[in-house]
Amino acid sequence: KRVVVFMGGISAEREVSLMSGQGVAAALVERGFDVTTFDPATDAFETLEDGKFDAAFIALHGKLGEDGSVQGLLNCLGIPYTGPGVQASAVAMDKELTKLVWRAAGIPVPAGVRMTKREAADAARIERLIADFGAEGLVVKPERDGSSIGVTKLVKAALSAEALREAIELAAGEEGAALVEEYVHGREFTIALLDGKALPVIEIRAPEGAYDYQNKYFTNVTEYDCPAALDAEKSAELAALSERAFAALGCRGWARVDALSRPDGSFVLLEINTSPGMTPHSLVPMAARAVGLDYPALCERVLSLADL
Ligand code: DAL
Ligand code: MG
Repeated sequence: KRVVVFMGGISAEREVSLMSGQGVAAALVERGFDVTTFDPATDAFETLEDGKFDAAFIALHGKLGEDGSVQGLLNCLGIPYTGPGVQASAVAMDKELTKLVWRAAGIPVPAGVRMTKREAADAARIERLIADFGAEGLVVKPERDGSSIGVTKLVKAALSAEALREAIELAAGEEGAALVEEYVHGREFTIALLDGKALPVIEIRAPEGAYDYQNKYFTNVTEYDCPAALDAEKSAELAALSERAFAALGCRGWARVDALSRPDGSFVLLEINTSPGMTPHSLVPMAARAVGLDYPALCERVLSLADL
Protein backbone atom coordinates (compact mmCIF):
# COMPACT_ATOMS: atom_id res chain seq x y z
CA LYS A 1 0.00 0.00 0.00
CA ARG A 2 1.23 3.46 -0.92
CA VAL A 3 0.92 6.01 1.87
CA VAL A 4 1.75 9.70 1.88
CA VAL A 5 2.65 11.18 5.27
CA PHE A 6 1.88 14.90 5.53
CA MET A 7 4.32 16.70 7.82
CA GLY A 8 5.89 20.12 8.37
CA GLY A 9 3.57 22.76 7.01
CA ILE A 10 3.45 26.47 7.80
CA SER A 11 1.89 26.67 11.27
CA ALA A 12 3.65 27.66 14.47
CA GLU A 13 3.76 23.92 15.24
CA ARG A 14 5.90 23.09 12.18
CA GLU A 15 8.79 21.83 14.30
CA VAL A 16 6.46 19.55 16.29
CA SER A 17 4.88 18.25 13.11
CA LEU A 18 8.27 17.34 11.66
CA MET A 19 8.95 15.24 14.76
CA SER A 20 5.50 13.60 14.53
CA GLY A 21 5.86 12.93 10.81
CA GLN A 22 9.33 11.43 11.06
CA GLY A 23 8.12 9.01 13.72
CA VAL A 24 5.00 8.03 11.77
CA ALA A 25 6.84 7.60 8.45
CA ALA A 26 9.51 5.38 10.01
CA ALA A 27 6.87 3.29 11.79
CA LEU A 28 4.83 2.76 8.62
CA VAL A 29 7.96 1.73 6.70
CA GLU A 30 8.65 -0.77 9.49
CA ARG A 31 5.12 -2.09 8.97
CA GLY A 32 5.77 -2.69 5.29
CA PHE A 33 4.05 0.33 3.72
CA ASP A 34 5.48 2.15 0.72
CA VAL A 35 5.89 5.61 2.31
CA THR A 36 6.37 9.05 0.75
CA THR A 37 6.59 12.14 2.95
CA PHE A 38 5.00 15.38 1.81
CA ASP A 39 5.60 18.85 3.24
CA PRO A 40 2.94 21.25 1.90
CA ALA A 41 5.28 24.14 2.69
CA THR A 42 7.95 23.03 0.23
CA ASP A 43 6.86 20.08 -1.92
CA ALA A 44 5.10 20.26 -5.29
CA PHE A 45 1.41 19.39 -5.22
CA GLU A 46 1.80 17.34 -8.42
CA THR A 47 3.32 14.67 -6.18
CA LEU A 48 -0.14 14.09 -4.74
CA GLU A 49 -1.85 13.78 -8.11
CA ASP A 50 0.86 11.58 -9.61
CA GLY A 51 1.54 9.40 -6.56
CA LYS A 52 -1.38 6.94 -6.79
CA PHE A 53 -1.60 6.95 -3.01
CA ASP A 54 -3.98 4.59 -1.25
CA ALA A 55 -4.11 6.77 1.87
CA ALA A 56 -2.69 9.85 3.55
CA PHE A 57 -1.50 10.02 7.16
CA ILE A 58 -1.89 13.63 8.32
CA ALA A 59 0.85 14.43 10.84
CA LEU A 60 0.47 18.19 10.35
CA HIS A 61 -0.57 20.31 13.32
CA GLY A 62 -2.40 23.61 13.34
CA LYS A 63 -3.15 26.00 10.50
CA LEU A 64 -3.66 24.46 7.02
CA GLY A 65 -3.01 20.98 8.40
CA GLU A 66 -5.46 20.36 11.22
CA ASP A 67 -8.10 22.94 10.32
CA GLY A 68 -9.89 21.27 7.39
CA SER A 69 -7.77 22.79 4.59
CA VAL A 70 -5.63 19.77 3.76
CA GLN A 71 -8.64 17.56 4.46
CA GLY A 72 -10.58 19.41 1.74
CA LEU A 73 -7.68 19.06 -0.68
CA LEU A 74 -7.57 15.31 -0.08
CA ASN A 75 -11.33 15.06 -0.56
CA CYS A 76 -10.88 16.69 -3.97
CA LEU A 77 -8.03 14.32 -4.85
CA GLY A 78 -9.98 11.29 -3.61
CA ILE A 79 -7.23 10.16 -1.21
CA PRO A 80 -8.60 8.77 2.11
CA TYR A 81 -6.94 10.45 5.12
CA THR A 82 -6.51 9.95 8.83
CA GLY A 83 -8.52 11.90 11.38
CA PRO A 84 -11.76 13.84 11.01
CA GLY A 85 -13.19 15.40 7.87
CA VAL A 86 -13.35 19.06 6.88
CA GLN A 87 -16.13 20.26 9.16
CA ALA A 88 -15.04 18.59 12.39
CA SER A 89 -11.41 19.59 11.76
CA ALA A 90 -12.38 23.22 11.13
CA VAL A 91 -14.54 23.49 14.24
CA ALA A 92 -12.06 21.65 16.46
CA MET A 93 -9.23 23.98 15.40
CA ASP A 94 -11.23 26.89 16.78
CA LYS A 95 -11.34 26.67 20.58
CA GLU A 96 -14.24 29.10 20.89
CA LEU A 97 -16.45 27.28 18.36
CA THR A 98 -15.55 23.99 20.04
CA LYS A 99 -16.74 25.36 23.37
CA LEU A 100 -20.01 26.58 21.81
CA VAL A 101 -20.77 23.11 20.46
CA TRP A 102 -19.75 21.38 23.68
CA ARG A 103 -21.78 23.75 25.86
CA ALA A 104 -24.83 23.04 23.72
CA ALA A 105 -24.18 19.32 24.23
CA GLY A 106 -23.99 19.76 28.01
CA ILE A 107 -20.23 19.20 28.19
CA PRO A 108 -18.54 21.36 30.86
CA VAL A 109 -15.99 23.94 29.63
CA PRO A 110 -14.16 26.79 31.38
CA ALA A 111 -15.91 30.16 31.60
CA GLY A 112 -14.46 32.90 29.45
CA VAL A 113 -14.76 35.01 26.33
CA ARG A 114 -13.09 35.59 22.98
CA MET A 115 -11.29 38.91 22.53
CA THR A 116 -9.47 40.60 19.66
CA LYS A 117 -6.47 42.89 20.01
CA ARG A 118 -8.67 45.87 19.12
CA GLU A 119 -11.23 44.99 21.80
CA ALA A 120 -8.42 44.64 24.33
CA ALA A 121 -7.48 48.29 23.77
CA ASP A 122 -10.67 49.25 25.64
CA ALA A 123 -9.69 49.68 29.31
CA ALA A 124 -13.24 49.13 30.56
CA ARG A 125 -13.42 45.76 28.79
CA ILE A 126 -10.16 44.65 30.37
CA GLU A 127 -11.41 45.59 33.84
CA ARG A 128 -14.65 43.71 33.19
CA LEU A 129 -12.76 40.58 32.16
CA ILE A 130 -10.83 40.64 35.41
CA ALA A 131 -14.00 41.20 37.42
CA ASP A 132 -16.03 38.53 35.57
CA PHE A 133 -13.55 35.68 35.27
CA GLY A 134 -10.39 36.57 37.19
CA ALA A 135 -11.23 35.48 40.75
CA GLU A 136 -8.60 32.69 40.56
CA GLY A 137 -6.45 34.24 37.83
CA LEU A 138 -6.85 34.07 34.04
CA VAL A 139 -5.52 31.95 31.20
CA VAL A 140 -5.07 33.61 27.81
CA LYS A 141 -4.57 31.50 24.69
CA PRO A 142 -4.73 31.84 20.92
CA GLU A 143 -8.12 30.88 19.53
CA ARG A 144 -6.50 28.72 16.86
CA ASP A 145 -3.11 27.33 17.76
CA GLY A 146 -1.61 24.38 19.61
CA SER A 147 1.24 23.07 21.74
CA SER A 148 0.79 25.94 24.26
CA ILE A 149 2.33 28.43 21.82
CA GLY A 150 1.24 31.97 22.75
CA VAL A 151 -0.39 30.91 26.03
CA THR A 152 -0.05 33.06 29.16
CA LYS A 153 -1.20 31.86 32.58
CA LEU A 154 -1.80 34.75 34.94
CA VAL A 155 -2.17 33.63 38.53
CA LYS A 156 -4.17 35.95 40.75
CA ALA A 157 -1.05 37.68 42.10
CA ALA A 158 0.23 38.40 38.56
CA LEU A 159 -3.10 39.66 37.24
CA SER A 160 -3.11 43.33 36.22
CA ALA A 161 -4.81 45.21 33.38
CA GLU A 162 -1.45 45.71 31.71
CA ALA A 163 -0.38 42.07 31.98
CA LEU A 164 -3.76 40.94 30.65
CA ARG A 165 -3.65 43.30 27.67
CA GLU A 166 -0.14 42.13 26.78
CA ALA A 167 -1.23 38.49 27.03
CA ILE A 168 -4.20 39.13 24.73
CA GLU A 169 -2.02 40.92 22.19
CA LEU A 170 0.44 38.03 22.21
CA ALA A 171 -2.27 35.37 21.82
CA ALA A 172 -4.43 37.22 19.31
CA GLY A 173 -1.67 38.42 16.98
CA GLU A 174 -2.66 41.03 14.40
CA GLU A 175 -5.59 39.23 12.79
CA GLY A 176 -6.82 36.61 15.21
CA ALA A 177 -8.44 36.44 18.61
CA ALA A 178 -7.53 35.31 22.09
CA LEU A 179 -9.57 33.24 24.48
CA VAL A 180 -9.56 34.66 27.99
CA GLU A 181 -10.67 32.01 30.45
CA GLU A 182 -10.95 31.47 34.19
CA TYR A 183 -7.82 29.86 35.64
CA VAL A 184 -8.89 26.42 36.78
CA HIS A 185 -6.46 25.28 39.46
CA GLY A 186 -6.68 21.55 39.44
CA ARG A 187 -5.28 18.36 38.01
CA GLU A 188 -4.50 18.09 34.31
CA PHE A 189 -5.55 15.15 32.13
CA THR A 190 -5.47 14.08 28.51
CA ILE A 191 -7.61 11.42 26.89
CA ALA A 192 -6.70 9.74 23.62
CA LEU A 193 -9.56 8.52 21.45
CA LEU A 194 -9.22 5.80 18.88
CA ASP A 195 -12.24 5.24 16.63
CA GLY A 196 -14.24 7.35 19.08
CA LYS A 197 -13.38 5.19 22.11
CA ALA A 198 -11.31 6.54 24.99
CA LEU A 199 -7.98 4.91 25.81
CA PRO A 200 -6.78 4.98 29.45
CA VAL A 201 -6.78 8.51 30.91
CA ILE A 202 -3.34 10.10 31.38
CA GLU A 203 -2.61 12.57 34.17
CA ILE A 204 0.01 15.21 33.40
CA ARG A 205 1.99 16.27 36.44
CA ALA A 206 4.07 19.38 35.82
CA PRO A 207 4.95 22.11 38.33
CA GLU A 208 1.81 24.33 38.44
CA GLY A 209 1.43 26.30 35.20
CA ALA A 210 4.61 24.83 33.73
CA TYR A 211 3.25 22.42 31.11
CA ASP A 212 4.35 24.72 28.28
CA TYR A 213 5.99 24.26 24.85
CA GLN A 214 9.43 23.48 26.31
CA ASN A 215 8.10 21.07 28.90
CA LYS A 216 5.81 19.38 26.37
CA TYR A 217 8.59 18.41 23.98
CA PHE A 218 12.10 19.18 25.14
CA THR A 219 12.58 18.62 28.87
CA ASN A 220 11.85 15.85 31.30
CA VAL A 221 10.37 17.90 34.17
CA THR A 222 6.83 16.71 33.38
CA GLU A 223 5.66 13.42 34.85
CA TYR A 224 2.81 11.32 33.53
CA ASP A 225 0.57 8.71 35.11
CA CYS A 226 -1.02 6.27 32.71
CA PRO A 227 -3.54 5.22 33.76
CA ALA A 228 -4.25 8.30 35.90
CA ALA A 229 -4.66 7.81 39.63
CA LEU A 230 -8.43 8.38 39.59
CA ASP A 231 -11.02 6.09 41.10
CA ALA A 232 -12.82 3.90 38.59
CA GLU A 233 -15.98 6.01 38.65
CA LYS A 234 -14.19 9.33 37.97
CA SER A 235 -12.04 7.79 35.30
CA ALA A 236 -15.13 6.36 33.56
CA GLU A 237 -16.82 9.76 33.84
CA LEU A 238 -13.90 11.50 32.12
CA ALA A 239 -13.70 8.83 29.42
CA ALA A 240 -17.44 9.16 28.74
CA LEU A 241 -17.24 12.96 28.58
CA SER A 242 -14.38 12.72 26.10
CA GLU A 243 -16.27 10.26 23.91
CA ARG A 244 -19.31 12.57 23.91
CA ALA A 245 -17.04 15.52 23.08
CA PHE A 246 -15.58 13.62 20.11
CA ALA A 247 -19.04 12.65 18.85
CA ALA A 248 -20.55 16.12 19.40
CA LEU A 249 -18.10 17.60 16.87
CA GLY A 250 -18.59 14.77 14.39
CA CYS A 251 -15.00 13.59 14.72
CA ARG A 252 -13.74 10.43 13.05
CA GLY A 253 -10.67 8.24 13.39
CA TRP A 254 -8.72 9.58 16.30
CA ALA A 255 -8.17 12.64 18.47
CA ARG A 256 -7.00 13.71 21.91
CA VAL A 257 -9.05 15.68 24.43
CA ASP A 258 -7.36 17.90 27.04
CA ALA A 259 -9.15 18.35 30.38
CA LEU A 260 -8.77 19.70 33.90
CA SER A 261 -10.41 18.83 37.18
CA ARG A 262 -11.61 21.52 39.57
CA PRO A 263 -10.72 21.37 43.26
CA ASP A 264 -14.19 19.81 43.88
CA GLY A 265 -13.33 16.96 41.50
CA SER A 266 -15.62 17.99 38.62
CA PHE A 267 -14.13 18.10 35.12
CA VAL A 268 -13.88 20.77 32.43
CA LEU A 269 -12.83 19.99 28.87
CA LEU A 270 -10.44 22.48 27.28
CA GLU A 271 -10.11 21.42 23.68
CA ILE A 272 -9.78 18.55 21.24
CA ASN A 273 -6.75 17.94 19.01
CA THR A 274 -7.74 16.24 15.77
CA SER A 275 -4.17 15.63 14.61
CA PRO A 276 -2.52 14.77 17.93
CA GLY A 277 1.23 14.91 18.36
CA MET A 278 3.16 11.70 17.62
CA THR A 279 6.57 12.86 18.91
CA PRO A 280 8.65 10.86 21.39
CA HIS A 281 7.09 13.01 24.17
CA SER A 282 3.51 12.78 22.90
CA LEU A 283 0.70 11.20 24.82
CA VAL A 284 -1.51 9.26 22.40
CA PRO A 285 1.35 6.77 21.95
CA MET A 286 1.62 6.47 25.75
CA ALA A 287 -2.11 5.72 26.13
CA ALA A 288 -1.97 3.23 23.26
CA ARG A 289 0.95 1.39 24.86
CA ALA A 290 -1.20 0.92 27.97
CA VAL A 291 -3.62 -1.18 25.91
CA GLY A 292 -0.87 -3.14 24.19
CA LEU A 293 -0.54 -1.11 21.00
CA ASP A 294 3.07 -0.10 20.38
CA TYR A 295 3.88 2.97 18.28
CA PRO A 296 4.02 1.23 14.86
CA ALA A 297 0.81 -0.70 15.62
CA LEU A 298 -0.87 2.55 16.65
CA CYS A 299 0.16 4.22 13.38
CA GLU A 300 -1.22 1.30 11.40
CA ARG A 301 -4.47 1.34 13.37
CA VAL A 302 -4.95 5.09 12.84
CA LEU A 303 -4.22 4.61 9.15
CA SER A 304 -6.76 1.78 8.93
CA LEU A 305 -9.43 4.30 10.00
CA ALA A 306 -8.57 6.67 7.13
CA ASP A 307 -11.57 7.75 5.08
CA LEU A 308 -12.78 10.46 2.74
N1 DAL B 1 -1.04 20.23 19.14
C1 DAL B 1 -0.18 19.15 19.56
C2 DAL B 1 0.60 18.58 18.44
C3 DAL B 1 -0.94 18.11 20.29
O1 DAL B 1 -2.00 18.40 20.72
O2 DAL B 1 -0.45 16.99 20.42
MG1 MG C 1 -4.06 21.65 21.22
